[in-house]
Amino acid sequence: MFSEALWNSIVEDSRRALEVVRGYTHITPLSYSASLSRMSGCRVYLKYENLQKTGSFKVRGALYKVYTLRGKVRGVVAASAGNHAQGVAYAASMFNMSSVIVMPENASISKVEATQSYGAEVILYGRVYDEAYARALEIARERGYEFVHAFDDPHVIAGQATIAWELLEQMEDFDVILVPVGGGGLIAGVASVLKRVKPSVKIIGVEPEAAPKMKESLKAGKPVVVEPKPTVADGLVTRRPGDITFQLASNLVDDIVTVGEEDISRAIYMLLERKKTLVEGAGAVGVATLLSGKLKLEDKKVVALLSGGNIDLTVLNRIILRGLAESGKLARITGYIPDYPGQLRKTLDVIARHRGNILDIIHDRSDPQTPAWHAKVTIVFETPNTSITRKIVEELEREGFKFHLER
Ligand SMILES: Cc1ncc(COP(=O)(O)O)c(C=O)c1O
Repeated sequence: MFSEALWNSIVEDSRRALEVVRGYTHITPLSYSASLSRMSGCRVYLKYENLQKTGSFKVRGALYKVYTLRGKVRGVVAASAGNHAQGVAYAASMFNMSSVIVMPENASISKVEATQSYGAEVILYGRVYDEAYARALEIARERGYEFVHAFDDPHVIAGQATIAWELLEQMEDFDVILVPVGGGGLIAGVASVLKRVKPSVKIIGVEPEAAPKMKESLKAGKPVVVEPKPTVADGLVTRRPGDITFQLASNLVDDIVTVGEEDISRAIYMLLERKKTLVEGAGAVGVATLLSGKLKLEDKKVVALLSGGNIDLTVLNRIILRGLAESGKLARITGYIPDYPGQLRKTLDVIARHRGNILDIIHDRSDPQTPAWHAKVTIVFETPNTSITRKIVEELEREGFKFHLER
C-alpha cells in the first residue's frame, strides 16, 4: 500500500536535508553534451555527481542520516564494499562521530584505503555482502552504535533527494531523467521530489541486465530477490530492493530499463574520451541506455545522472583496451614470416611507416599449423584507424608476408 504520508515526509525532509548537505558537499555541474545529443538524437544533459565529495552522490544520504543522529548515538556502523562506505565515513568525520565500516574480505584495496582515509575503522569480514551486513548489525549491538542502511531509510532517501532540488535550481525544464538503480534509494528520493514539483518529468530507472531486482520486483508487485551476476556496474548490485524504496518507486517511477555489459563499458569509454570525465559502471548506465538506442526519446530534454566515479583502475584499464580495439585504434594482426634474420624487422618497418606503434609481439614456432621454416607472429599496435591498419596488411602482403587482422 502506498503511503502519501511517507511521500510527503520525504519531500519535506529533503528540503531540510538540502540545507545540511549543502554545507559539506559540492554543487556538481550540469552541462549539455553536444556529442551525446548527436549520437542519441535527444538533447542530453549530464549531472556530474562523479565529481561529488567522496566520488559519488552517496555522501548526500549518509550526511543527512548521520546529521540526524548527532548527540543521540556514540557512533555509526555501515556495511558496504563501495560508495556508501566512503559516504558514511566522511559524514561521521564531519560531525565528529566514530564510524565502523564492515567490508567483505574481497573489497578492493583502494576502496578500503579511501574509507580509512576518512577516519573510519574498517573491518574486513565475510565472503559476500550479506555476511558483512550481519557482522555490522552485531557490532552496532555490541558497541551501542547506530546502523546506517545504504538505501532503505527515509533519512537516507531524503538526503539522496537533494540532488533533485539542486538539479531544479540548475535547469527548470526537462522531460526525462535517467537514474541508476541499486537498492533504490537514489531513485526513490529523486522521484519523490520531481513527481511533487514537476510531475510531467518522466523518471526512468536503469539497472544492469546482471542485477534487474527493481524491474523484477515491479513485475511481481512486491520486492523479490534476484541473484545478481557479475557486472561492471558493481555499485548497482543488490539482491533485493528495499521495502521503502520499492513502495516509492512502484508509485512514482515511470519505467525501469536494463542495459548490458557491452553498453556500460562503451559508455564509460565514451565519457572518458569525449567528456574527459571518469565515471564508474554504476554511474554510466544512463549514458549506456542512450547509446544503446533502447528508448525512443527524440528531441526530448534528457538528464543523465552520472552518479559516481569510483572505478577500480584495473577494471578501467580493461575497458580502455577494449574501447581502443573496438574503435580501431588498437590492432592485432597475425601471420607467418620466414624464420631467418631480418624478416621481423621488415614487418615492423611497414607498420612504423604508417605510424603504428608496437605494444606487443608474440613470436611462436611451436604452433603445429606453422609452415616449416616459418614463425607465427602476432603483433599488437596502436594505429590511427582501421583503414590504415588494412593498408598495413596489404603492404605486408606485397612484401610477401601474409597477415590477417584479428577481431
Ligand atoms: C555510483 C552509484 N550509483 C548508483 C547507486 C545506486 O543507488 P541506490 O542503491 O540508492 O539505488 C550506487 C549505490 O551504491 C552507486 O554507488
